[in-house]
Amino acid sequence: MHEVSNGASGLVEAFRAQTGRQPAGVWAAPGRVNVIGEHTDYNDGYVMPFALAQRVLIAAAPRNDHGTWTVTSLNNRSTKIFRDADLQPGMTGWQAYVAGVVWALKEAGHRIDGADLVLTSDVPKGAGLSSSAALECAVLIALADLNELEIPGLGRAKLARRAENAFVGAPTGLMDQAASTLCTAGHALFFDCRTDAAEQVLLDTRSSGLEILVLDTKTPHALVDSEYAARRTSCEEAARLLGVAALRDVTDLDAALAQLSDPVMRRRVRHVVTENARVLEAVAILRAGRIADLAPLLDASHESMRDDFEITVPQVDLAVDVARASGALGARMTGGGFGGCIIALVEAGDSNRIGDEITVKFGAAGYGPPTHFTAVPSAGAERLE
Ligand code: GLA
Repeated sequence: MHEVSNGASGLVEAFRAQTGRQPAGVWAAPGRVNVIGEHTDYNDGYVMPFALAQRVLIAAAPRNDHGTWTVTSLNNRSTKIFRDADLQPGMTGWQAYVAGVVWALKEAGHRIDGADLVLTSDVPKGAGLSSSAALECAVLIALADLNELEIPGLGRAKLARRAENAFVGAPTGLMDQAASTLCTAGHALFFDCRTDAAEQVLLDTRSSGLEILVLDTKTPHALVDSEYAARRTSCEEAARLLGVAALRDVTDLDAALAQLSDPVMRRRVRHVVTENARVLEAVAILRAGRIADLAPLLDASHESMRDDFEITVPQVDLAVDVARASGALGARMTGGGFGGCIIALVEAGDSNRIGDEITVKFGAAGYGPPTHFTAVPSAGAERLE
């Protein structure tokens, strides 16, 4: 069995070994971290993620029969086969992310022929780094090319999200698929989830003497599905009570809070409204090249997620606290919450030291060891070969 790697050549070899044929191409789609703008996407708000160097790679070739797809994951060391008749929403297992994309493309009226796919991923799973969106987006660009479909980037992101929402059944917003599809190297993506306006914002940490540490707390986030859905419902209910289309439309926070009697709902609204404002501030800061000034916004975002949106867990809060105490300029949880990763803005070269400090404190608290890496804003989904 092949080592999981980030390069295309080993994958081509694995494809040949698996199918006895040459792949028609190799495609890649990255995971992401979100710099700021959490749980704002499904409120028609703003987000600012960037693509990671960690990505899903897929080698693929068409099959002679029309309605059969095979998909081999080198990570799971397993091959799944599904046919037209199996394309039913609610399918479980990792292959649902692949079948869901076939389903979404067909639902949109595209003709999709059978194909063999072999994939490998180095995006950490269950860590809030969008490993599933990376898989969906990689499958999507591979199948779009194999079937000669002209689908623009945003359309691809939306089809991948349709697979996630309607086939896999997770009621997410568009951020992860937009990031995986639209991001460019060296930039964060400022994305307006209402208008779909996308701006590449330079994120050159190095020239500011800084870097971004990503630390995976390795917390099992069992509650993520039910709690994510509950947050979303609460936001939609609040928007309805306030008479606006989405919480994005709340312009006077105090007036809105005065209209809501439920204290939990008031906190949820305060998070979304203040978080949207923080994204806009963060964009202005990056446009001005003042990266260090992001730090207080990261801290404020974390506090808002912890106290108002209540989506952090003790391991995540500890990691953020230790990062700050060890010299990070600012830190916050990134992603959907209830575990997963934090990001910290740190002096260049400081990631390992701070990651090690957190590891020590995790040991003292009886938590398992976290993992960490320095994040590099990388390219979005693309064909490699
Ligand atoms: C998950 C979802 C996204 C977004 C984030 C929270 O990653 O897939 O759509 O809602 O959580 O910001």
